[in-house]
Amino acid sequence: MRCKIQMLLIYCIASEVSMAKQLDSRRNFPQGLYSVEDRGSAKWNRIKRSPYQGSSCRIRGCCTGRDDDCSFTIVSRGAICYCDQYCTSGSPGPVDCCADYWDVCNHPVEPTRSEEPWPPPAWGCYKDGRYYGEGTIIKDNCNSCKCFNSLWECSTDVCLVRQDLIQHINSGDYGWKADNYSQFWGMTVEEGFKKRLGTFPPSHSLLNMREAPGKSLPEEKFPAIFSATYEWPEWIHDPLDQRNCGASWAFSTASVAADRIAIHSKGQVTDNLSAQNLISCDTRNQHGCNGGSIDGAWRYLRTHGVVSYACYPSFWNKHLGPSAENRCYVSSEHGKNYTNGPCPNAFEKSNRLYRCASHYRVSSKETDIMKEIMDRGPVQAIMKVYEDFFLYKEGIYRHSQKAGSKWKTHSVKLLGWGALRDKNGQKQKFWIAANSWGKSWGENGYFRILRGQNECDIEKLILATLGQP
Ligand SMILES: *[C@@H]1O[C@H](CO)[C@@H](O)[C@H](O)[C@H]1NC(C)=O
Ligand SMILES: *[C@@H]1O[C@H](CO)[C@@H](O)[C@H](O)[C@H]1NC(C)=O
Ligand SMILES: *[C@@H]1O[C@H](CO)[C@@H](O)[C@H](O)[C@H]1NC(C)=O
Repeated sequence: MRCKIQMLLIYCIASEVSMAKQLDSRRNFPQGLYSVEDRGSAKWNRIKRSPYQGSSCRIRGCCTGRDDDCSFTIVSRGAICYCDQYCTSGSPGPVDCCADYWDVCNHPVEPTRSEEPWPPPAWGCYKDGRYYGEGTIIKDNCNSCKCFNSLWECSTDVCLVRQDLIQHINSGDYGWKADNYSQFWGMTVEEGFKKRLGTFPPSHSLLNMREAPGKSLPEEKFPAIFSATYEWPEWIHDPLDQRNCGASWAFSTASVAADRIAIHSKGQVTDNLSAQNLISCDTRNQHGCNGGSIDGAWRYLRTHGVVSYACYPSFWNKHLGPSAENRCYVSSEHGKNYTNGPCPNAFEKSNRLYRCASHYRVSSKETDIMKEIMDRGPVQAIMKVYEDFFLYKEGIYRHSQKAGSKWKTHSVKLLGWGALRDKNGQKQKFWIAANSWGKSWGENGYFRILRGQNECDIEKLILATLGQP
């Protein structure tokens, strides 16, 4: 029934519109008639007409200024009334506003006229109430859509931000919540994997690296909660932001190395280290923002060393173009504690180099990792990242099956642990970790992830260094 009425309405409006067109052409005065005397005053081209009692502007919408198209045709009277502000002006002739103009339009609110063309064109597409002409291409999150034969034809990539996945996670019992991140909006999952991760899967030799022997202490020997940021508040460096540079290999290594140098030196050296220095200069078998290996990064820190972030900041040379981005501005000479050149920026004078002792592998046993963090500071961990991880907002992360089984390797910094009781009274143990997606992501740049179950391989490969050699 409702449907029928709507159809009828559309029909009526449509027929009024076609009538209006005829009326319009009959109504129009020849252009030349006024143009000679009133060249500067275009308003004389419009004839004022008598008002009509009805709800025209409510249908038509209101317009600002003078807009002759902003009119409504009353077929039964062969008349046109207007819903633009100009209709209220006194001359020429009587006011020609539609009857409901004073109710609907004549108060100081924003004009309500929609952007839809009037009359509605026969061809074209709509989205979110907006009209788009044939052939228009728009972006819908990560896909592009083209209006073709009045239908949208869209590419079908899987987007990094998926409302259905966010809703699924937030309404489910996963122990963590998801969010829509504007920095990921418009990216495909593939792009997310490519630009926001960037740690090569560990090589055979890395996977076969001998683990430093651990004591496998019972968990009771440890505090229930531990965080390096409380233990060494001045010496732990904040989460970094790799932006769209797939170089987590460099960011996680620089972050762990800076913390460990500060702890090892008992606060003598607290500078943060330049991930960009690694990205641009550690190029042997490494691919900068297209990925690299963490053991390669540790080797470079031992043999060459890097300068501070202040000396060699991230992304500062973006505007200089790709050749500048890939250029290595500072590197060391053997045995020196400064580099072969000044810092590539005018503000920082100290081009001091920071080297690390060799890296070693920590045992994958939960309490051995805990002991290592408690005694010597944060460690580096690799992890599998599935698409749901990008949406993490807060809580204890675990991979949800709904997010598919595609994953790529990432590396992060583990710096503490804790435990919570969930709704059902179950103890949920977690690691505290720092990601490199800026502080607007997750819990101020940090995240918590299930502990003791090798969730996403987080306990599989743990690397650390003793600090400066
Ligand atoms: C997510 O954020 C983007 C950009 O901030 C916004 O355009 C989009 O409408 C949001 N999507 C959802 C599903 O909330
Ligand atoms: C460390 O690096 C960050 C940028 O990642 C910067 O904002 C901060 O000021 C630096 N801190 C120190 C002590 O240099
Ligand atoms: C560099 O090493 C020299 C001696 O080899 C030392 O005197 C100097 O203080 C060092 N500089 C820094 C910044 O550590």
